[in-house]
Amino acid sequence: KSLSEESMGRMKQRLESRNICRWRGKPIFVRHQTQKEIERESGVPQHDLDRVKKPEWLVPIGVCTHLGCAPIANAGECGGHHCPCHGSHYDASGRVRKGPAPANLEIPNYEFIEEDLVVVG
Ligand code: FES
Repeated sequence: KSLSEESMGRMKQRLESRNICRWRGKPIFVRHQTQKEIERESGVPQHDLDRVKKPEWLVPIGVCTHLGCAPIANAGECGGHHCPCHGSHYDASGRVRKGPAPANLEIPNYEFIEEDLVVVG
């Protein structure tokens, strides 16, 4: 009998334009990126394309890298996420652009198993 994805600590998720799902107790902020966003974010250090498997889908862990609060998706001054706890702003690629957060939103291991279906973990 094969183990389910969940029992192996993995999560299977059908992608929708913007949704939040949970993986190992952490939120994952799935985000569909427009061509304009892909172009805008490609000029910043740590290239957007180094953070995605498909440019049009971002799959970061939604935990602020400052002190672990949950950032608000689709908010803030930089086109991505805002953590109101101490004022960190992340861009559409989940890279920190302003505030005390020391690192970009973490990208978990994930793989596409269908066009719009990922397994995280
Ligand atoms: S926990 Fe997010 S800015 Fe401090």
